[in-house]
Amino acid sequence: MNTITTVAHPNIALIKYWGKRDEQLHLPTRSSISLTLEAFVTETTITSSSDESDHIIVNNSQAPDRIASPIITFINYCKNKYALSTPITIQTSNNFPTAAGLASSASGFAALAAALNVFFSLKLSPQELSILARQGSGSAARSVTGGFSMWHKGMLPDGSDSYAEQLFTQTHWPELRVIIAITQQDIKTQSSRHAMQQTIETSPDYAAWIETSEDRIAAMRNALITKNLPLLGELAEQDSLDMHQTMHTSKPPINFFVPATYRIMRTIKEIRTKQTIPCYFTIDAGPNVKILCLDEHVPALLKALNDIEGVLYCITSTIGPAVHTKDKEIHSV
Ligand code: PMV
Repeated sequence: MNTITTVAHPNIALIKYWGKRDEQLHLPTRSSISLTLEAFVTETTITSSSDESDHIIVNNSQAPDRIASPIITFINYCKNKYALSTPITIQTSNNFPTAAGLASSASGFAALAAALNVFFSLKLSPQELSILARQGSGSAARSVTGGFSMWHKGMLPDGSDSYAEQLFTQTHWPELRVIIAITQQDIKTQSSRHAMQQTIETSPDYAAWIETSEDRIAAMRNALITKNLPLLGELAEQDSLDMHQTMHTSKPPINFFVPATYRIMRTIKEIRTKQTIPCYFTIDAGPNVKILCLDEHVPALLKALNDIEGVLYCITSTIGPAVHTKDKEIHSV
């Protein structure tokens, strides 16, 4: 195979992952459930290198160290694991801000793992591919499977039971929308890798949050089965707030929010109670806010969000698919 292009979408966790029980293997302390964003796309092309070294091009230019370094670590891991020697050129681009808390590492490593799988004919099953992508970035395990996915935390020390599984396809809940309110699109100042480790080690609230996991996973599965937005939204919002609480109480405190993040949270709660529009927020390791809502309420919500000081712009997304090759059908990697 001389060239291969794969396509992956970032995912947003409804029940979050934050913290590893094994740093080396990226094994999480809790299971998580996500939905995939159709509107955001990562495309990754692998070709044979014209010289003896590997090359990494991100968004059409040489990647800065902070972005290139985890990619190089991942490629070396794969080369070692599967005894690969051919030098390659990797070109990857996102149609959304990179490393800004919008899960570009999830789609990035899902697309890269899938491209390596095809380019080197590794013949990995979706489960094995999810495990491989997890090695790049934990949440990438869920972008491999797409739609609505659950990443099982697993029990085994070797991580062979810690992979994502698709719960529902992207068409399961056609009216569901996610509005991404962008408040900042610069590269994050703090990597989630270090922030989550510090949280585990120092937050007095961490153990209690982990205790909630099993009940919340069960309730979220139920909300998805019954397509119950208030149940899904309340749970997602609470789980996100609780995750950020563990960061705020870690030592030293970690806070990814900017003033506009707080304004958006306040507005969403107000719209929900005063205008009785079902809408809920969830926030990851960055200041941007994702709003869960229904198709019919998008125009009213966009109007309100765009009026908030500090909101740069908003993007509305439906639910996206699993990772796939560009010229083949979904699930064909
Ligand atoms: O996959 P990472 O290491 O970028 O961690 C992602 C963590 C959160 O986005 C905050 C939560 C999640 O489950 O995606």
